[in-house]
Amino acid sequence: MNRKEFSKRRTHLLPLLGEGSIAVLPAAPPTVRNRDVEHVYRPDSDFYYLTGFPEPEAVLVLIPGRKQGQSVLFCRESDPLMEVWNGRRAGLDGAVEQFGVDDAFPIADIDEILPGLMENKERVFYAMGSHRDLDQRMIGWLKEVRKKSRQGVQAPGEFVSLEHLLHEMRLFKSKSEIEAMKQAARISAEAHSRAMQRCRPGLYEYQIEAEIMHHFMDSGCRHAAYPSIVGGGANGCILHYTENDAQLVDGELLLIDAGAEFEGYAADITRTFPVNGVFNAEQRALYEVVLEAQYAAIAAVKPGNHWNDPHDAAVKVLTKGLIKLGILSGTLAKLIKEEAYRPFYMHRTGHWIGMDVHDVGEYKLGGQWRLLEPGMVLTVEPGLYIAAGSKGVDKRWWNIGIRIEDDLLVTRTGHEVLSAGVPKEVADIEALMAGGDVIQPSQRARDKARV
Ligand code: GLY
Ligand code: MN
Ligand code: MN
Repeated sequence: MNRKEFSKRRTHLLPLLGEGSIAVLPAAPPTVRNRDVEHVYRPDSDFYYLTGFPEPEAVLVLIPGRKQGQSVLFCRESDPLMEVWNGRRAGLDGAVEQFGVDDAFPIADIDEILPGLMENKERVFYAMGSHRDLDQRMIGWLKEVRKKSRQGVQAPGEFVSLEHLLHEMRLFKSKSEIEAMKQAARISAEAHSRAMQRCRPGLYEYQIEAEIMHHFMDSGCRHAAYPSIVGGGANGCILHYTENDAQLVDGELLLIDAGAEFEGYAADITRTFPVNGVFNAEQRALYEVVLEAQYAAIAAVKPGNHWNDPHDAAVKVLTKGLIKLGILSGTLAKLIKEEAYRPFYMHRTGHWIGMDVHDVGEYKLGGQWRLLEPGMVLTVEPGLYIAAGSKGVDKRWWNIGIRIEDDLLVTRTGHEVLSAGVPKEVADIEALMAGGDVIQPSQRARDKARV
């Protein structure tokens, strides 16, 4: 992503904060996996959105109207010895030159400097409660400022969450964000196609996961956006299944929910297909219901519709389908009202997606589902999950778990399906699994992948 994009975002946010304000946004802390080993570092999305700065131990401070510079970054200083052990640092000069902040100070000096920046400010934008260590320090800084009241220094009286302003910005994707999301979705779609081609009975779920990860990284995405779900048979009925360690069985379905992260932006795609390449009658019947529900939900994604319209559309088709297959009985209206579908469809039909796979942004405004608007990106992911032992359901339907998930950009006239590159029609899936070479990444972008 162009560095200018990050400073543009700060320039947009600063006047919204208003004079008399200061905003404090910390980088994510590293997390320990075990003893001396840390999890792969992932910057905090809010912090990264405004800085593009990939290092831990950093705090962005925004001070609208400050003459010496409105964007200040506290970060680690260059330290050749530490950098030999733990990797390169931008340092203070790098923070200004490469990341375009107005000023940079050593993170080690934040306790001395920050109280001064808070003097005579009315309000502090800070997400109290999200960073335990920094919360304590924030209270300490506030006390420092209050101590100076007899010298005529005023301490901030208001603590405000930045989320409302910042997350509303993040909800509407810019041109370059949309480009990154298209890239993530395209690469993820290719990876799903590749998994279909590689799949056969006897492989382990993690071998299919390996195929997907290989394609992500080979295509310039250093990380997945979330742990891949690769669940055969009964495992497809576990919504957040991530063990991925079972053997794939002839005659069962495989549900894969996997998405790449490109330049910090997520894709989130699910496909369900037969391990042996051919749907049996029950699998096909349920699959067609979910697919029809997905098409109905997708058709409801357009500006002016409510956030909940795609969900309502999906629920209607799913319930109708369950009645037709004899899994539910009763009238459509009554079954929908009673949410009779819930044992088989227990999640919502989608969520915002962006830097976070479950992205930020309000779903309701003033107590009402908000309207869809151009620039929003969301998933559409209906499913049906008939677990073994489902009461009143014939055994032939058991252990069939199906979800079909795509990523959609709301456009001025309707929507664009960003993840359309992987088949979902029964005939197309079966054709791809019956033949076809492994799909090669059509555009390699390793150099561009950042987070
Ligand atoms: N991959 C998580 C979800 O589909 O929401
Ligand atoms: Mn998903
Ligand atoms: Mn999803």
